[in-house]
Amino acid sequence: MNVIEVKNLYKSFENGKQVTEILKNINLTVKHGEFVSIMGPSGSGKSTLLYLLGGLDQPTRGNVLINGTDLSTLNDKKLSSMRNEEIGFVFQFYNLVPNLNVVDNISLPLMLSGKKISDYNDKIDEVLELIGLEDKRKLTPRELSGGQQQRVAIARSLVFDPEILFLDEPIGNLDSKTGMKVMELFAKINREYGKTIVQVTHSEKSAEFGTKLVRLIDGEIDEVSDVKKLYKTA
Ligand SMILES: Nc1ncnc2c1ncn2[C@@H]1O[C@H](COP(=O)(O)OP(=O)(O)O)[C@@H](O)[C@H]1O
Ligand SMILES: [Mg+2]
Repeated sequence: MNVIEVKNLYKSFENGKQVTEILKNINLTVKHGEFVSIMGPSGSGKSTLLYLLGGLDQPTRGNVLINGTDLSTLNDKKLSSMRNEEIGFVFQFYNLVPNLNVVDNISLPLMLSGKKISDYNDKIDEVLELIGLEDKRKLTPRELSGGQQQRVAIARSLVFDPEILFLDEPIGNLDSKTGMKVMELFAKINREYGKTIVQVTHSEKSAEFGTKLVRLIDGEIDEVSDVKKLYKTA
């Protein structure tokens, strides 16, 4: 079964009397374990598409199915629990809470969902080890580099063990060396943890970490292609 299925998706934004069509007739399927990169010029609708896939926004027309469930059929409560537990998001600017330490930032989605943190101690240790920040548990974001802050955001996105990760320009704010290290981490999360990943990126180099490339132009899919495996697995 397809983990993500997009059917005849359209999105327009209304600004007063003016309606702008941002996405047009998007059809796309993503299978379990794929790592899809969405590329395209600024303003072509990449983030809008990602938010529709993740249920953060609703399409004007068309459907998004996650594991066979049409998001438009879910009530608010079901949608938000799906977003919490089956989907992880990582954004360009980390979105960490400045006065919470690393562990508390990672635990935040659990707290907001009313989970007992002590039930997740092993999971928290596991994601801390994955991001390589076990020795920085008690530091706050301002005591971390940009790359480390993004790693915390990645750990936070994994704490519910979601099947899918959505990444919006996840290395857009990092220098290229740090960015490539973060991409290696996503490749590992894809391969070893079997997470399905969809990322928006500006960087061809970062798209090479994926398995499939979707090119978006003016809100339409221009091309879908397999990525040549230039990236060597470690
Ligand atoms: N909430 C919104 N209201 C009105 N216009 C929007 C909104 N979100 C995005 N847009 C417009 O949609 C277009 C595509 O935006 P976006 O998906 O962010 O592009 P990209 O991520 O490819 O740079 C842009 O022209 C943007 O101004
Ligand atoms: Mg964008």
